[in-house]
Amino acid sequence: MAAHAWFDPAHFFESLNMTSLVDSLLFGALDLPNRILMAPMTRARGTREHVPTEMMVEYYRQRASAGLIISEAIGISQQGLGWPYATGFWSAEQVAGWRKVTDAVHAAGGRIIAQLWHMGRVVHPSFLGGSQPVSASVTTAPGQAHTYAGKQPYTPARALPLEAKDGKGIWITRQWATFERAIAMSRLPAAECSVGRCFTGFS
Ligand SMILES: Cc1cc2nc3c(=O)[nH]c(=O)nc-3n(C[C@H](O)[C@H](O)[C@H](O)COP(=O)(O)O)c2cc1C
Repeated sequence: MAAHAWFDPAHFFESLNMTSLVDSLLFGALDLPNRILMAPMTRARGTREHVPTEMMVEYYRQRASAGLIISEAIGISQQGLGWPYATGFWSAEQVAGWRKVTDAVHAAGGRIIAQLWHMGRVVHPSFLGGSQPVSASVTTAPGQAHTYAGKQPYTPARALPLEAKDGKGIWITRQWATFERAIAMSRLPAAECSVGRCFTGFS
């Protein structure tokens, strides 16, 4: 960011012993050149197969000067993705599409981390070939789902069984494989995951 002739923010805040937006920040394993973080925003610019498009490559490339970009939420499986034209991370085409995005951001000098998404009971059956969405228990989300056919009421979710396999539930093991694929694409040695929202390093 260019300093104005009569106001140099870096010098001004330094003289007050304060940090400013344009100061660098050590953010876990990431060394950010400034403190401007781009919030995750689903823009629904993928294909019907949930593959990132060239428009997305350009969108993220244009924003590479942010200290850190947090990607729009990315579905980890069809079971967990119920937003029209949102993108996923379970097919080779989807991963290749995101690779184009991250390559463009890195080439422009930026950093990007992925927000991984499992929408649970708010996935409408029309995304699941008519199957029921899953959740921790049998409940129905309030309100209406966004679908390719407009808004439709949510339907009851089925409770996922936790079948033990290698000390983990089978479902968790399967979803975790996607998470590991994201880490494999990353330049970072570690990632962080929490229930509901899940972040991993692309950068
Ligand atoms: C169009 C749009 C898409 C969004 N998509 C996501 C998303 O994919 N993941 C997420 O965690 N938040 C998402 N958000 C929430 C924004 O990140 C949030 O609005 C932003 O962090 C600012 O916070 P505030 O709305 O509480 O002021 C979205 C918001 C908008 C307006």
